Amino acid sequence: MASVILIERQERILILTINRPKALNAINSEVMNELNRIFVDKKEDLTNIRAIILKGAGEKAFAAGADITEFPSYSSKEGQALSQKGHAVYDAIEQFSIPVIAMVKGYALGGGCELAMACHIRLAEDCARFGQPEINLGVVPGYGGSQRLVRYIGKSKAMHLLLTGDMIDANTAEMMGLISGVAPSGQGMELALKVAGKIASKSPLVVGRMISLVNAYDNNGFKKEIELFGASFDSEDLKEGVDAFLNKRKAEFKGK
Ligand code: CAA
Repeated sequence: MASVILIERQERILILTINRPKALNAINSEVMNELNRIFVDKKEDLTNIRAIILKGAGEKAFAAGADITEFPSYSSKEGQALSQKGHAVYDAIEQFSIPVIAMVKGYALGGGCELAMACHIRLAEDCARFGQPEINLGVVPGYGGSQRLVRYIGKSKAMHLLLTGDMIDANTAEMMGLISGVAPSGQGMELALKVAGKIASKSPLVVGRMISLVNAYDNNGFKKEIELFGASFDSEDLKEGVDAFLNKRKAEFKGK
């Protein structure tokens, strides 16, 4: 049976593709378990990987949400367990020290939009559609959407999208601050690889620290910044970066 997440390496970049195109890459328990294996259990060999791109298979969707076909049999206890697992996996992605770039083509809805929001960077093709349509199913978002959407686009716009279930297009999502780049149709991977390649050339030590700092923005972030700024002066990468600048050459960072 084909894997629900395809894994491919391009030099220092890992490309993960959710591979259920017939179900618009809906996140069923198998997909969630595979994300859990990679990001929570850290069972994938990520030696020398400096950036990860996450996308959906096919032309129609990044992911159209949690797999609704699994919902009818759930009790409230099972629903809570599903949500708890989704939170654990998505939190692990958000905290991952290797940056994860969501490249959204087509629909990113419900748990799919929440997955993109858990990634460190969101890019999209201009055909992308974002939304939290859970309200149409009689349920609230279960994988962090009610909180991350507020953080990214503010309470007013988040409330509107969550209460109406409306979708927004890629340009609107960029204007609102939900995503940070839009490519013409068919050119999303080119953009994602360019951004990933740029990050891959930086110090992986500093990239990891930067992620933890930005994630701490509402939790003692200034204090953490002072600590991590100081700690940088113990690293070989800072010596390399400064020496490269002073000697007008390109830095080669080793993550030490
Ligand atoms: N779960 C399971 N199957 C899904 C799915 C989902 N979230 N989204 C789409 N599919 C399936 C469809 O059932 C359909 O399957 P069949 O071919 O076997 O009938 C196939 O994917 C293609 O979908 P459509 O025929 O519906 O395609 P469309 O182009 O007409 O519409 C769409 C596209 C607007 C995205 C529509 O599929 C849709 O509304 N999907 C559901 C979106 C949604 O409600 N997502 C939230 C899920 S709940 C959630 O995610 C909770 C949470 O926070 C964790």
